[in-house]
Amino acid sequence: MGSKDCESMEKLQVKDKTFAISIREAEIQKEVRRVAAEINRDLAGKEPLFLPVLNGAFIFAADLLREVTIPCEVSFIKLASYQGTQTTGAVREVIGLAKDITGRHVVIVEDIIDSGLTMAHMIETLEAHNPASISVCSLLVKPDALKVQVPIHYRCMNIPNDFIVGYGLDYDGFGRNTRDVYTLVKD
Ligand code: IMP
Ligand code: MG
Repeated sequence: MGSKDCESMEKLQVKDKTFAISIREAEIQKEVRRVAAEINRDLAGKEPLFLPVLNGAFIFAADLLREVTIPCEVSFIKLASYQGTQTTGAVREVIGLAKDITGRHVVIVEDIIDSGLTMAHMIETLEAHNPASISVCSLLVKPDALKVQVPIHYRCMNIPNDFIVGYGLDYDGFGRNTRDVYTLVKD
């Protein structure tokens, strides 16, 4: 598969699971630059407010924002999970919205969209604050896992419906600190 980068590990052990390299740093960086160029073009003159979602998007946001050349602001948000008493699934509340987003062109920066439920909830929450616009920018999307329709304005890559780690994404808190993305090896 492709050229061999001597700095990449082919396999990654995270706790009890083995992962194999699936998206290399160079490919990620190429797509990050492409998406940043789209943002630079689309949001020029709009002074967007980027809202990267912690923890997963921290590396993606750091790389993306260094390619964004238009005037902009960045403020991190986080999702707090708790078991809802009324619903069957986990409810995730948006916390840390430090900036007033009223009238702002907001760009949500996410690591991955899986079922889309988290993003749908986040958009609904942010819309209540009356931003001028909301754009979604996700490093990865699992199209086959989507359960709800979410607008995805900027995406680096689609991936199959497999569990991945690396480049900010974790398995049980570990595995975020790699330059490449790794896919779970099923046994
Ligand atoms: P969704 O609500 O199903 O779209 O889930 C989105 C969130 O689940 C992401 O922000 C990630 O935190 C997490 N997630 C989904 N798929 C993966 C994966 O393959 N690896 C690590 N985290 C994932
Ligand atoms: Mg996340």
